[in-house]
Amino acid sequence: MWQAKLRIISGLTLFAFVLTHLLNHAAGIISFQTQNQWQQWLLGPWQTDIGKVILLSAFVIHALNAVYSIYQHNSLKLAKWQLAQLITGLAIPFLLIEHIAGTFVAEELLRVNHEYMSVLAIFWHVDTTKAVTQVITLLVVWTHGCLGVHYWLRVHASYRKYQTSLLGIAVLIPTLALAGFISAGQQLLRDFSEEILLMHLAEANITADTTATISSWVSQGRWLLAAIILFPFVLRWLKRWLQQQATATITLANGQHIPLNREVTLLDNLRQYNISHAAVCGGRARCTTCRVRVLEGIDYIPPPSPLEQQALTKIKAPRDVRLACQSRPKGAITIQPLLAPKASPEESLKPGGLEGQEQEVAILFLDLRESTRLAEQRLPYDVLFILNQFFSEMTEALTQTQGHYAQFAGDGLMALYGIHGDNPQRACRQALKGAKTMLEKLDRLNRRVASELDKPLQIGIGLHFGRAIVGSMGPPTAEMVSAIGDDVNVAARLEGLSKQYQAPVIISAALAQQAGIKPPVTALHQASLKGRQDLVSCYALTKEDL
Ligand code: FES
Repeated sequence: MWQAKLRIISGLTLFAFVLTHLLNHAAGIISFQTQNQWQQWLLGPWQTDIGKVILLSAFVIHALNAVYSIYQHNSLKLAKWQLAQLITGLAIPFLLIEHIAGTFVAEELLRVNHEYMSVLAIFWHVDTTKAVTQVITLLVVWTHGCLGVHYWLRVHASYRKYQTSLLGIAVLIPTLALAGFISAGQQLLRDFSEEILLMHLAEANITADTTATISSWVSQGRWLLAAIILFPFVLRWLKRWLQQQATATITLANGQHIPLNREVTLLDNLRQYNISHAAVCGGRARCTTCRVRVLEGIDYIPPPSPLEQQALTKIKAPRDVRLACQSRPKGAITIQPLLAPKASPEESLKPGGLEGQEQEVAILFLDLRESTRLAEQRLPYDVLFILNQFFSEMTEALTQTQGHYAQFAGDGLMALYGIHGDNPQRACRQALKGAKTMLEKLDRLNRRVASELDKPLQIGIGLHFGRAIVGSMGPPTAEMVSAIGDDVNVAARLEGLSKQYQAPVIISAALAQQAGIKPPVTALHQASLKGRQDLVSCYALTKEDL
């Protein structure tokens, strides 16, 4: 949280600096004398001692934040916009160092005067390649800043309303700045002879010696920057390597942990600790009764051998299902056996497991926000009264939309749509309708119990469409038809994003596609979900969007 806040505050500070810089460039459309006059108003505050401290702090914080993000991100498989932001962000220090060294640093250490006329004389008279670099720098910095601001604000409905106009302004500002930069440079060449320009540069202490000193700073600085940027990548690699070397464990779905022996198969690992596990063919990759779903750490198991792959293909196993008798995990994994330990030969080579079957289904997760706070502020009877009313409304919404109630979790529930093998599109549409009905019923409930609450009840809903093992599960006396699997976890984690994206409903792009709907593109996100390598496309929607 603090990290995100620091990134935003430092980013906005730098964005403000770049904006004033560009506006100052734009003044060159009038004349470079105007640029010099505007400089004291637009850039003057940044050149005071306090301004320099703020600017330098923002730069250091933003850069360190980026370095730390690279290090701690689970995966560097990024969405296109994130990749663009990362690349532009990494390029900025390399591009900007020459400008900073030649202006602010040189002024402090070499007593160089970097007023506009001196800078323009260097760009347009001494070395025009520097002018080209300056233009590229300007575009890269501005693009990076605009991407950051856009993806920060896009979850806000008010921003989405003005997005097109703001895009126009975002294009106009650098265009004017470039025009001003070129125009001022041309004016300088027109109005002053070479002798005067050289004399001016000499007065500003921009000599061959100071230029050589600045160049050597720049080349040394770029090496230092390269080392700083490489540092988090090296740390990431080291962290992963150390994790692989450390004693790893196998975690079973019931929470039991056993140490992992990397030299033997998963089945042998389980047997070493007397954990019963189905293996009708005795570990010959013929029966598939030893199949497990790998809930976490699938990448720590080397790809299936041709023999295992052949067996997996026969049961149409998804990527996260592996044969325990053939897999040799190299790191920590969490598994869910898919057949009972006493599986019979009849269950061999049949898809599915757990007396259920693997099928496509729409999954809905619902969570009541701040239920702990509610419990702390109310008497237990009041809380029970409100919760019972809440669940009564929500289950009514399920009944009305043919949703199947599949799990209860104190302040939330899971529901399934399409468990009877219905048409997938219909199942997804019903799930969306279910979410909308829940929100409508919540509004009604909030009006009814307004006097009991200091603020209205809020919910978060996650919706996803995918494959899951659907079957009867739970304690023998209280079995219910529910679902397990990776896609169920995705739905649960999407629900968790509703708070982050400040939207009551998060639906996966997979569900939107199956339902045949096209949510607003501005609501699209690429989310990184715990336990998944790849980003998941999802939409953050309001009741009106459904
Ligand atoms: S035990 Fe039969 S395939 Fe693994």
